[in-house]
Amino acid sequence: MMISPTLPAELKAALDGKLQGFSRIDAAQRSQKISTTYRAGGGSGTIKSDADALAYALARMPATYAAVAASLNALTEIAPDFAPETLLDVGAGPGTASWAAAEAFPSLQDFTLLDANATLSRLALELARDSTRLAECRYLPGDALGNLAEVSQADLVIASYIIGELNEVDQRKLTNAMWAKTRHALVVIEPGTPAGYARILALRQQLIAAGAFVAAPCPHEKPCPLNAPDWCHFNQRLPRSQAHRQIKGAEVPFEDERYIYVALTRTPPATRAARVLAPPDVGKAEITAKLCTEDGVAPTKVPRRDKAAYASARRWRWGDAVIAES
Ligand SMILES: C[S@@+](CC[C@H](N)C(=O)[O-])C[C@H]1O[C@@H](n2cnc3c(N)ncnc32)[C@H](O)[C@@H]1O
Repeated sequence: MMISPTLPAELKAALDGKLQGFSRIDAAQRSQKISTTYRAGGGSGTIKSDADALAYALARMPATYAAVAASLNALTEIAPDFAPETLLDVGAGPGTASWAAAEAFPSLQDFTLLDANATLSRLALELARDSTRLAECRYLPGDALGNLAEVSQADLVIASYIIGELNEVDQRKLTNAMWAKTRHALVVIEPGTPAGYARILALRQQLIAAGAFVAAPCPHEKPCPLNAPDWCHFNQRLPRSQAHRQIKGAEVPFEDERYIYVALTRTPPATRAARVLAPPDVGKAEITAKLCTEDGVAPTKVPRRDKAAYASARRWRWGDAVIAES
């Protein structure tokens, strides 16, 4: 099911409930400190108190949710019959990816969340209590590198904005451990920076070597055809609520989240779709789009005189899958 990038009503209500009696100024300061540490490569280690966890969730959950939602939509588009029943959310934090997966897959019945941060886990469980779908989720505390060995396989495994918190050796170990727990699909999402892209690329390569297929965004298992300084990433726009604006000290009523993801499957995808890698250029005589195809990346030109093709190319957006028409 294609889902909206905005937080589901139950999650929004649960977060709003937590905001009662919580100072926005305090939340803004805490989230500022957390982002400064993040940008310095410190990860989520500074999230220590319940107030920090809430400040983090209020500031970041809408954007990471939007990126996960877009990534799951891309998977669903390529694998419309995929109906997972079990989910493993690795580095679940406040539970963001589990909420998005519950929306995207009505078939999900069993949710296992795993995280090393006890404070964020507590918040995740409190938020989940207000959810029709997640109320009975299981939350495993501790380091995913050790813990994953103990959990059962899941139809769908998601790791959203976590691998960047590990060193390269641990990233490789976690990648193998997650794949071992994946019955059908593994979706990994990272910030859409050159470094985030490099991590996704390494994970993609490692798992293709282990037999994985790429459902999205790439239409192939070949090496990525992009050359530095170019890097693959996408953008998801999301609305900002008033509280969200206050916490981020922002004026505009929307936010653009740059992200990169890969959806890997155990069986080859039924369709291969070219991927739109940048906003297409709509000119008078033709539309020029940067498409990643099975044969590499090429600027695709669609002339206006080719009426039907031009009409459909006008609808292409950055990140879209373009199913070949013959
Ligand atoms: C940036 S947060 C992302 C949370 C959530 N997945 C999201 O998308 O909003 C990263 C999370 O990964 C967790 N984490 C980092 N390293 C971990 C590890 N080795 N084992 C388990 N969790 C880890 C952190 O505690 C934190 O909750």
